[in-house]
Formats: sequence, structure tokens, C-alpha cells
Amino acid sequence: MAGPPDALIRSLVDGPSLVTGVEYEQQVPSTNIRAVEAARRGVEEGYLVVADHQTAGRGRMGRRWEAPPGSSLLLSIVLRPTVATRLVPLVPLLAGLAVAEVVDGYCLDRTVGLKWPNDLLVDGAKVAGILLERAADPPSAGGGTPVVVGIGLNVDWRGVEREDSEPRWSLAEAVGAGVDRWRVLAGVVGVFSRRYDDWHADPTGFLPAYRERCETIGRRIRVDVPNRRVVTGQATGVAGDGRLLVASDTGEAEQLAAGDVTHVRAE
Ligand code: BTN
Repeated sequence: MAGPPDALIRSLVDGPSLVTGVEYEQQVPSTNIRAVEAARRGVEEGYLVVADHQTAGRGRMGRRWEAPPGSSLLLSIVLRPTVATRLVPLVPLLAGLAVAEVVDGYCLDRTVGLKWPNDLLVDGAKVAGILLERAADPPSAGGGTPVVVGIGLNVDWRGVEREDSEPRWSLAEAVGAGVDRWRVLAGVVGVFSRRYDDWHADPTGFLPAYRERCETIGRRIRVDVPNRRVVTGQATGVAGDGRLLVASDTGEAEQLAAGDVTHVRAE
């Protein structure tokens, strides 16, 4: 399968995006693993890894991320953010918003939203997921905690059988026509780069736009929290550090930093 065209790679590296280098592979275990390794070698911020297929794609909460070869955009970017460390968990929310804005441009008559923290939903079905991983050492040349943001976006899953428990969909299915994967790549990298720049100047400035997109706020939810606790209740908002605010059924005001959210249907 052909990789991103040379002209696109040149425009990403030479243009205004944050991309400083591109590694394209047909098959890797995981683009996040590759990008973490690259960060540890000391690559600059903006090093981008793109693949057609992953044999050990990583999802949130220790799950796998599966996608047939050539069907998806699978990418990871090395970041060295210089904001306060407590604000770094906002990166996946920022990336989710950027991906939602790009996808929205393709499917104008559909609802493009986010399930906290960063699952991209089109008409309620998952089309993209995001995974932030730390890439601790060596210390970044430009300061800041090195992290990798990985994005998996289902571009064209027409004809692909699905066995997942949660509904998964793709951009081409939402649009009802084929979609150029590399155009989507250019869009995602471009919008994320702009949002990432703005974020350094104003780390919480994107949150109103994020909250507007976040379908979780106001919903009845069930959250599987990493320590095996389950919280049920009403999602009331997203705090300035990205935590999900929940009025729980037990009467507690919860602030959750991580968890797997299910939107519970009203009965
Ligand atoms: C989720 O579980 O919703 C997050 C999925 C993130 C998948 C992407 S695909 C590209 C990058 N490489 C990985 O191994 N995972 C992320």
C-alpha cells in the first residue's frame, strides 16, 4: 500500500505545521511504541510516525486497537509541551477536539461529538480514539515532559466486519463515499498544530469549544474507573484540568481523571 505522497510529507515538514520529521511504515507493532522510542532517542518535537497497519495497536485502559491494513489513519506525534505538568493531561482532549473539527468538515449533516475524554463519535458511533503516553527520558532538549499522542481514525471500513462491543464506524461510511486518507492526515495534523500552538499561549482556552462538542456533559453515565470502581450518575461538566465532573448516584461530587464512560440511555 502506498504511503503518504512525497509532496504531502514535504509540505508537512516545511510548512507551518508542528511536524519536523515523518517516519512512514507499512506495518509496525504500534505507532505509539515507535514514537516513544524516537522520543527516547531525543528526536525533536513534531516527529510524526504513520503506519498502514499495527500488529499490537494500543488502546485506552490497556485495550488493543484493531484496524484492517490500509483502512485507517494510524499516527503518533512526539510532543514536548512546555506548559505546567498538571496541564499535560489536556493534550488528548485537545487532540480529540482537533480530530472532531476535521471530521465535521466531511460530514456536515451528521452529529460529530466527543465522549469524554476523547472518543470521537459520529451519530453516536466511535470513529476515532486517542491515546497519550509519556516518553520520560532523556529530558527534553527544549525542556518539557516528552509525550506521544496517538490517533487512530477509521477512514474507510466499508465491507469490514465488526465484533466490538461498542459500535465502531468509519468516515467513509458516515460520508457515504470514499475518503482520501492522506487528505485527512493533512487536515488532522494542520488543525492539531494550530490548536497546540494556541494551547501554549492559553492552556484552557480551548475548553469552551471542547465542552460544546462533549456529548458526555449532561448525560447519565456509567464510568469504569481504573481501580475497578464503578461510578454512576450525571456528568455535570469538565474541569479546567480536564477531569470529568460527576454528580454520582450516591450523592458524591466526583472529579474523575481517567475512566471508561458509557452513555446510559434515558429509560
Ligand atoms: C482508544 O482506545 O480509544 C485509543 C486508541 C488509540 C489508537 C491509536 S492508533 C495510533 C496510535 N498507536 C497506537 O498503538 N495507539 C494509537
